[in-house]
Amino acid sequence: MRVTVVGSGYVGTTLAACLADAGHDVTAVDIDPDVVAALNEGRAAIHEPGLDALLERHVGGRLRATTSYDGLPDTDVTFLAIGTPSNADGSIDLDGLLAAAETTGEALSELGPDDRHLVVVKSTITPPGVADVRDAVAAGAGSAADRVDFATNPEFLREGSAVDDFRNPDKVVFGTDSDWATERLEALYAPLIGAGDGDDPVPIVRTDPETAMMIKYANNAFLAAKISLANDLGNACKAFGLDAYEVMDAVGLDDRIGERFLRSGVGWGGSCFPKDVDALRAAARSAGYEPPLLDATVAVNDRQPERLLALLDDHVDVAGERVAVLGLAFKPGTDDTRNSRAIPVIEGLLERGATVVGYDPVATATMRDRFPDVEYADSAAAALTGAVGALVVTDWDEFAALDDAFDAMADPVVVDGRRIVDRREGITYEGLTW
Ligand code: UDX
Repeated sequence: MRVTVVGSGYVGTTLAACLADAGHDVTAVDIDPDVVAALNEGRAAIHEPGLDALLERHVGGRLRATTSYDGLPDTDVTFLAIGTPSNADGSIDLDGLLAAAETTGEALSELGPDDRHLVVVKSTITPPGVADVRDAVAAGAGSAADRVDFATNPEFLREGSAVDDFRNPDKVVFGTDSDWATERLEALYAPLIGAGDGDDPVPIVRTDPETAMMIKYANNAFLAAKISLANDLGNACKAFGLDAYEVMDAVGLDDRIGERFLRSGVGWGGSCFPKDVDALRAAARSAGYEPPLLDATVAVNDRQPERLLALLDDHVDVAGERVAVLGLAFKPGTDDTRNSRAIPVIEGLLERGATVVGYDPVATATMRDRFPDVEYADSAAAALTGAVGALVVTDWDEFAALDDAFDAMADPVVVDGRRIVDRREGITYEGLTW
């Protein structure tokens, strides 16, 4: 099929590259000429394993980028993958998406009398916002609006494994207003979800556009709440002198619960969970529902970094002392520090008058933008040298093998927020929930 993908950010670039790889003819549209030029040279503005290889393979063939919407009527499907940033109250800002939706509609006003086109929202938008985007497309299309179908198709990609997640999804969700739109999406995804390789076919959820988006929010809210409940129970375990991991490993054996996302510690961050849970809370409130469990999901998460710091306070007064922060990324395998738990941890240390030394194998540069005055070390060992305390914030594998490096600390107090460092002789070790 001939596909347009509007928006060449994280989701749009991954989508465009994966659809081209699945055999479709893809045009990526972005308003930023630099992004477009880079894409046409086979370079993505984001780093995602496997993405550059796909661009290299398909740019110049089935994949191209442009700043122009003019080609839209010659394609079959247009995806909208425009960012929806957060407002101060947690709700999402639809302005950019609505503008792109209207421009898309205007381009489609040129559709021929026998043409029919599908516009699919890939951006994450709360259910009450769906009608606004649908209306913006229709307003732009004018008299051609009856030849433009509308759908939503949420993504469930994780950073660091987005390409793989796209190719091996747990499910795909089609939110459509018509059977024709559903069939189009099925044809588009057929190369990705059809069995063929002997695996079970991927479950397809067919529903309306609003429900499809609610599935996305409910999915992320459930995962965030699962971690927060593990943290709430983990804090209780710590208060009882018990090991939360021993408890939750057993709890996870109940297949109604499942073993994943039960790792307690310093909490969840990143670009999705915080934003999506906040947007859902704000949208629910606007619609007249106060969501207590979603509020608590955030409240528990917000408190974990302070609990990490309090455990350090129990052992050492950090004012005027060096303290190492091991891990700055919001999770291992990425240089993304958005909503990383390292941010409140560093802020808490600075409030206490500590000299902070941060270390991360890849995320130092992004954290330096936020905290330019913090010292950054080239290795965990260098960060630990002379420190009175070490706070472990990200579960990078290399932190499991530090061993002797702790001996270089002035007074080795290690507070582990991810259960990655082993308790050992010669250091005072505190686990956040164990
Ligand atoms: C998440 C969802 O998994 C994905 O489906 C959605 O599309 C976007 O949001 P991502 O933000 O890439 O993906 O991160 P993920 O790997 O899910 O981890 C989120 C956070 O939860 C990280 O900060 C991680 O450290 C934390 N986490 C995860 C825990 O604290 N404990 C766990 O058991 C699992």
